[in-house]
Amino acid sequence: MSDQAQALRDLIRRQHASSAAEPPRSTRILTVASGKGGVGKSNFSLNFALSLQKLGQKVLVFDADIGMANLDVLMGVSAPYSLYHLFRGERPIRDIIQLGPGGIHFIAGGSGFRELLHLSEEQLQQADREIERLQGEYDFILFDTGAGLSKEAERFIGASHESIVVTTPEPTSITDAYALVKMVSHSRPDASFRLLVNRAADEREGRQTAEKMDLAAQRFLDIRLPFLGSVADDPHVGKAVRRQTPFTLAYPDCKASRDVLAAARGYLDLPRGDASRTVKGFFHQWFNRKRNL
Ligand SMILES: Nc1ncnc2c1ncn2[C@@H]1O[C@H](COP(=O)(O)OP(=O)(O)OP(=O)(O)O)[C@@H](O)[C@H]1O
Ligand SMILES: [Mg+2]
Repeated sequence: MSDQAQALRDLIRRQHASSAAEPPRSTRILTVASGKGGVGKSNFSLNFALSLQKLGQKVLVFDADIGMANLDVLMGVSAPYSLYHLFRGERPIRDIIQLGPGGIHFIAGGSGFRELLHLSEEQLQQADREIERLQGEYDFILFDTGAGLSKEAERFIGASHESIVVTTPEPTSITDAYALVKMVSHSRPDASFRLLVNRAADEREGRQTAEKMDLAAQRFLDIRLPFLGSVADDPHVGKAVRRQTPFTLAYPDCKASRDVLAAARGYLDLPRGDASRTVKGFFHQWFNRKRNL
């Protein structure tokens, strides 16, 4: 067993041991999505999670970009297990949670997800029992999804407490983000969105982009798209990607890092709505539907 795996086990054990004394956390599920690809979802997800953690929250990041998993690459960590191993009954949940830089917990994406459509009832129930362990263990479980107007993204968003839609100020990115929100809001009128403008020239451009989208959403979709924040277009992000280190860890004082931390602070200050959804319910929605594809 690697030192890293051992350290994580010890950590989880300590947490289990101490959780008896602590009141259980109310775990919130957050999905990060976009219409257009390559707008910075994975970088935002990872660094937002690290920022929430810096602010005292316990966060699990989940790479749900099935087929194009890359959170592990952004962290420079190789992940031997994924959700696939859990559902196959090959590994318990504590083994598929990896420890990333900055002490972040994450579950890697992986290939082989198609096979999960053919799980037996027994395997699903076993996985269910494992997944239930996450409830109350984290303050936030954050899903980084793949781009696009897919049914998959729709399911994730529909089953989450909230979703952060990432766009850049470019018109193509804005129209695709709007199309995603439109598609989801038709089938899931109760879905709750926040808008994050990435690669903004400045705060003003970010806010203006968000205001335009919120106005269009109110007028044509009858929903709100509140502004979560903007993240500067910052060369440190690309540099950090090449170093395979999250930019908030590699360059904590760069503009993008400060912006993500500000977004995390703002997010934590928001009132919390609907607390009735559970981690187990989330996975049920995802997997039961997946099985019926
Ligand atoms: N704030 C930023 N400033 C400068 N460059 C950025 C910023 N955010 C993202 N990038 C650049 O965009 C690239 C793509 O980012 P990322 O992989 O996070 O996008 P994505 O939306 O997850 O893509 P995909 O849709 O393929 O999953 C990064 O490698 C980085 O070079
Ligand atoms: Mg990505």
